[in-house]
Amino acid sequence: MAANLIDRLRELKGQASAIPKPADEKELNDLRVKYLGKKGIVSLLSQEMPSVTKELKPEAGKLLQEIRTGIETMLEDARLGIRRDIIRRDIEQEFFDITLPGAHPDFGTRHPIAAVMDEIVDIFVAMGFQVEEGPEAETDYYNFGGLNFPPEHPARDMQDTFHLSGIDMLLRTHTSPVQVRAMEKYGPPLSVIAPGKVYRCDADITHSPMFHQIEGFTIDRKITMGDLKGTLQTFIRRLYGPNTKIRLRPSFFPFVEPGAEMDVSCVICGGKGCRVCKHTGWLEIMGAGMIHPNVMKSSGIDPEQWSGFAFGMGIERIAMLKYGVDDIRLFFENDMRFLRQF
Ligand code: PHE
Repeated sequence: MAANLIDRLRELKGQASAIPKPADEKELNDLRVKYLGKKGIVSLLSQEMPSVTKELKPEAGKLLQEIRTGIETMLEDARLGIRRDIIRRDIEQEFFDITLPGAHPDFGTRHPIAAVMDEIVDIFVAMGFQVEEGPEAETDYYNFGGLNFPPEHPARDMQDTFHLSGIDMLLRTHTSPVQVRAMEKYGPPLSVIAPGKVYRCDADITHSPMFHQIEGFTIDRKITMGDLKGTLQTFIRRLYGPNTKIRLRPSFFPFVEPGAEMDVSCVICGGKGCRVCKHTGWLEIMGAGMIHPNVMKSSGIDPEQWSGFAFGMGIERIAMLKYGVDDIRLFFENDMRFLRQF
């Protein structure tokens, strides 16, 4: 019986070294169960150990151990080989061309209108103006009445107004309503710069139904037209360079008296005359004037005690001149090829 076990162990050892390598994980598992499992060949033989005589026990134990490690080593090698084959096959199937151009995300840039607006606001903030904003949906009072537009006055039609249906409100046609709101809120003395969106029912290559304006005004004792001119001169030199000239031409807006339009020497030709300035050497940039006494009175400010100047400019026009853009619609089409240039 005992000698018999030794013989069978020797025989098994010979067999074990000839076990064909498993080809896949299933075969591998089957072999593990067949030889090393609880009821596997090696386990069954080891259960016979107690019946082996003392003299033969060492040899039987040694054989059993050699068989077990031999099979374990072989199965572990096979397992690694199978894993490696699987990974290699995956890599071959997942082949991709690393020389193809990648998909790179588009990075946004500052919108030219926002950039010009910030630049202008910064210049006035450096001169002591405070920034104020007002609502885009306004009442008739703030957009017109409080700004000395008489009821039924044709000047209301000058600014093709979008009226909101169902409610007694409109989209503001200019940033001037912020004058009235800030006067009511703070009282004099006061210097305000008010950037924002405005709306007019108008569209062509130089007009967009939504555009941006910056309003500015100062109210203090003894403010004169000279203060207006000096302030605008300083502003324009900082925006367009120290050699830029300005001129004020008489004009009419209900909320200023006297009223003016301000021109700058052409930023393209320096005043010599070109296509952009229509050979006049000047570009119209903004409306301005001394705040009308009626506007002050409506807002509770005594025009005998206080005086002020106000101005308002369209940002798209300034940006078009600054960057040489000839169609306003380019600013709102969100074409990255256009926007990335700034
Ligand atoms: N609100 C005027 C416009 O939109 C501009 C302006 C502002 C004129 C302030 C005079 C004073 O055309």
